[in-house]
Amino acid sequence: MAKYYINAAQKEGRIHKEIYGHFSEHLGRCIYEGLYVGEDSDIPNVNGMRKDVVEALKEIRVPVLRWPGGCFADEYHWKDGIGPKENRKRMINTHWGGVVEDNSFGTHEFMELCSQIGCETYVNGNLGSGTVQEMSEWIEYMTFNGVSPMSELRAKNGHPEPWKVDFFGVGNENWGCGGNMTPEFYANEYRRYQTFVRQYGLDMMAAASEDKGFETDNRIRKIACGANIADTEWTEGVLKTLFRHCEERFHGNADGLSLHYYVHPEGWDIKGSATDFDDKAWYKTLAKANYMDELVSMHGAIMDQYDPEKKLGMIVDEWGTWFTVEPGTNPGFLYQQNTMRDALVACVTLNIFNKHCDRVKMACLAQMVNVLQSVILTEGAQMLKTPTWHVFRLFREHQDAQLVNSCIETKRIGEEAEFMVPNLSESASIDAEGRLQITIGNLSVSEDTPVETEIAGYDAKKVTAWILTGDMHDKNTFDDPDHVKAEKFEGAVLKDGKLCFTIPACSVLNLTVE
Ligand code: AHR
Repeated sequence: MAKYYINAAQKEGRIHKEIYGHFSEHLGRCIYEGLYVGEDSDIPNVNGMRKDVVEALKEIRVPVLRWPGGCFADEYHWKDGIGPKENRKRMINTHWGGVVEDNSFGTHEFMELCSQIGCETYVNGNLGSGTVQEMSEWIEYMTFNGVSPMSELRAKNGHPEPWKVDFFGVGNENWGCGGNMTPEFYANEYRRYQTFVRQYGLDMMAAASEDKGFETDNRIRKIACGANIADTEWTEGVLKTLFRHCEERFHGNADGLSLHYYVHPEGWDIKGSATDFDDKAWYKTLAKANYMDELVSMHGAIMDQYDPEKKLGMIVDEWGTWFTVEPGTNPGFLYQQNTMRDALVACVTLNIFNKHCDRVKMACLAQMVNVLQSVILTEGAQMLKTPTWHVFRLFREHQDAQLVNSCIETKRIGEEAEFMVPNLSESASIDAEGRLQITIGNLSVSEDTPVETEIAGYDAKKVTAWILTGDMHDKNTFDDPDHVKAEKFEGAVLKDGKLCFTIPACSVLNLTVE
């Protein structure tokens, strides 16, 4: 029996909806085929965007989408992707699979996709191989509402109105594929490039005086490139340089610092199969997913030294599992299947982000469709929702809810001393309708756990619940696309003011208490 304590009266901050964000790169079949098939395709589409995929994405209420990369971003020249499609440059995607990139999906198409999904836009700029002028003109092209060379070019290309860029990344992984820079060099470059990411359409002085850091939604919020995994030297070096000579004014020049962390069960070189794994690999994967908690605390402690008010968001804009590609697929396409193990990784990670919502203000799962830990897989006209999609569906009520204080008794489980992990993962919030939302995962492959919950500060009268459960290898395939899906859970009861249930092994559960 695990005792679970929730104090609904103790609010701990807003869970920014952007924590439930996604990432789409010009990589493999993510953009082409996965999201965009073109207007002339036989696959049902609206302005080239797949109808089935957009519908599935709307169901999980995707709040924000990052594009065009990843490593691709620092090689992307946005002018190649505008204007009549027949005139757009064809080139080799050197980074990902050496295939032809015809640039038929560019800025206009990305904005159209986000408008169909109903999500915010997160555009990642090219600092590694692009110029300041190129970046500055892209911002002018997308957001300037007046007479200027770039706004006129946009109008000529069919979109007189400016778009809203909610977030703008100034480079990606500049410690690696984005230019192999040192933290100090990158931070100086960041200072220079971001200066020309203009806040068009705003009274600049007013915008600066109203500055609330990440919380402000009327400006383009600028994201600086942060660390890979545990590289605290990068975090320290970047922040030191960013804050130098402008401590008072720094907020407004950067609103977020990114963090990238992927789970490779057997390490970067071997990675490990997405579908063929044993109990040992299961626990190793989940222990590695749980390491996110330590990473957020560690980088967060450094950020606290420069930014004690937590205006700067930690933006985990690439996270998820990274396994060996499916046999027979292009190694550069990063296509992998998705099982209940991925579902538990998502559950553990999203609960960690919820609990750190004072600092983690946005996160993007890598990647949205057909690449790494996707929520959707496609094969020609066929589409399926992965177990990870179902976890995002079960967690969606946390978006913009108030985190509340909660704690559960756990024990450490696993098969190797180095990779032990708590058996349960949880978080709780009060949503916009005043309901208590609980998400809880059982990481054990074999042991069901009875839970007895004491809820303080809430008059609990009714509970409804949904569960995603199965064998650890369970997955959805094009022959059996609904093999894994969430089902109504009838095993939760309110008894003497306590919420009691038994969570089966290998499950993710969402309880709504009213
Ligand atoms: O998501 C795949 C790649 O992983 C991204 O392009 C890069 O940013 C990271 O290394």
